[in-house]
Amino acid sequence: MRVASLRPEHHDCVRQIAKAAEQDLDLDAEVRRPWARLHVAVEPGGGVPVAFSLIWAVADEFHVINVATHPAHRRKGAASALLAQLLADAKAHTARLVLLEVRRTNRAAIKLYRRHGFSIIGVRRGYYADTGEDALEMLLALDPETGQPLPGQDEVALELG
Ligand SMILES: CC(C)(COP(=O)(O)OP(=O)(O)OC[C@H]1O[C@@H](n2cnc3c(N)ncnc32)[C@H](O)[C@@H]1OP(=O)(O)O)[C@@H](O)C(=O)NCCC(=O)NCCS
Repeated sequence: MRVASLRPEHHDCVRQIAKAAEQDLDLDAEVRRPWARLHVAVEPGGGVPVAFSLIWAVADEFHVINVATHPAHRRKGAASALLAQLLADAKAHTARLVLLEVRRTNRAAIKLYRRHGFSIIGVRRGYYADTGEDALEMLLALDPETGQPLPGQDEVALELG
């Protein structure tokens, strides 16, 4: 899986991925934000993106706003490739924390983030206005010296199966 910075020719494809993955994305607004970082993942030999990530880099924190893979291209490592790029960027940016919120029922995303070293540090009750669902707050701390992920610990017990 190849990861690249978003380019104008990717815009339509990224909008389609967001729609197919049922993710809200105002791409025009995001590309105007100086702190937004957008990447795409492209399959080997493929020409068009199959996944994208949107990160906000604010002070020494990276906020994962969105990671989405087109439903026809899941479980092939696209989101993992984007997260690996994100962690490399965070290290280069000397970020100390990578943070995100995820719906409590989003088992696929929670498993993905845990696999990349994130821990569940809290619950925001009724965070999502559309369904009233809780958000889980997840965190990955980076060693300020080396940029390597530091081991974390879940503060919230969750049965994921
Ligand atoms: C969550 C999502 C981004 C994963 O994308 P992906 O490209 O399929 O992820 P990867 O192939 O890199 O998966 C890496 C690992 O994550 C976990 N994972 C991913 N999807 C999973 C699923 N449906 N069920 C269980 N575990 C899953 C697995 O551990 C997987 O490794 P494996 O395939 O070797 O078992 C994708 O399902 C998606 O776009 N969902 C809708 C959008 C969304 O919810 N985004 C997160 C918002 S915060």
